[in-house]
Amino acid sequence: MPTVLGIETSCDETGVGIVADGVLLGEALATSMDEHARFGGVVPEIAARAHLHAITPMVQHALDRAGIGLADIDAVAATAGPGLATAVQVGLAAGKAYALTLGKPLYGVHHLAGHAAVDILEHGPLPARCVALIISGGHTSLLLLGDLARDPIIHLGDTADDAAGEAFDKVARLLGLPYPGGPAIDRIARDGDPAAITFPRPMTGPNDPPYRFSFSGLKTAVARWIEKCGDRPVPVADVAASFQEAVADTVTRKALAACHDHRVDTLLLVGGVAANSRVRQLAEQRCAAAGVRLRVPSPRLCTDNGAMIAAVGDLLVRANVTPDRLDLGPDPSAVLRGALLHGPR
Ligand code: KG4
Ligand code: ZN
Repeated sequence: MPTVLGIETSCDETGVGIVADGVLLGEALATSMDEHARFGGVVPEIAARAHLHAITPMVQHALDRAGIGLADIDAVAATAGPGLATAVQVGLAAGKAYALTLGKPLYGVHHLAGHAAVDILEHGPLPARCVALIISGGHTSLLLLGDLARDPIIHLGDTADDAAGEAFDKVARLLGLPYPGGPAIDRIARDGDPAAITFPRPMTGPNDPPYRFSFSGLKTAVARWIEKCGDRPVPVADVAASFQEAVADTVTRKALAACHDHRVDTLLLVGGVAANSRVRQLAEQRCAAAGVRLRVPSPRLCTDNGAMIAAVGDLLVRANVTPDRLDLGPDPSAVLRGALLHGPR
């Protein structure tokens, strides 16, 4: 069975995974998150330098954990976009170097396809059709997925402005919580009342596009609410819980509507924000009520990692998809059309 080495460096995580036939054999993850915290967000040059330092040790770690050597690798997959240009560049260059020196094929993978594919490692092959809700730091999309290795991905709707994770990060900053904001809001919201404040559920009106998202208005609503507190102390836990509830309600409502309208019985919930405890809980409740099967990876596989890219590479290899040329360039703002950055061929 072909063994695939996957490399992920689109943001601040240096992830390496090794997958064969839908099974995760080993993985390793380094993060430069702490180096960005004092800037309140990821600094691309710092992330890129950290990838450069971490990439070879992480590959070695992952190989050690899998109990194999480089000579056992049959194909290499690396994130070719979207992401921070300088960061993507490092992982893709590393992927090319491994492919070239090992004499093995290279696949330039679309990062978001990785978020979807990672679920295969925990829950087995994807069904012939499913709706995928990708909620990450940079993207928010409702998609119709067929065969991930071969079929074009259909966008039912995307965000008109901020991504869901971006909204978490910005609201966390408004509340004085540390970066990354998503996990910080998730934690503090446990002590808050989700019904304390009714924040807007954006784009859920009868005349709104049913599968599109918008989070910048919600973020502004939170900012205005905090401003109105004036000199009074801001009830941080209540604001966090109420904001989180607005996001969870909006995204799950739209995802279930997409499943219903397209007669799809499986919802795949993925991306960093899919690690959120309330999003997961509400998705479970609403899917159960609607008779929709929910697939959601463990929280640690929702956020960026190398296994997700190896999972895509593994699908492509098994589907006999033609590999990329070694002069493949990164595309920091690549639109998701298929598992390969340059779409299905
Ligand atoms: O998928 P991801 O790791 O990176 C991108 O591809 O963007 O997502 C990162 C985003 C960040 O905005 C982070 O705040 C958010 O996911 N996130 C969460 C949680 N864990 C990570 N948001 C809400 N609740 C969480 N538990
Ligand atoms: Zn991601």
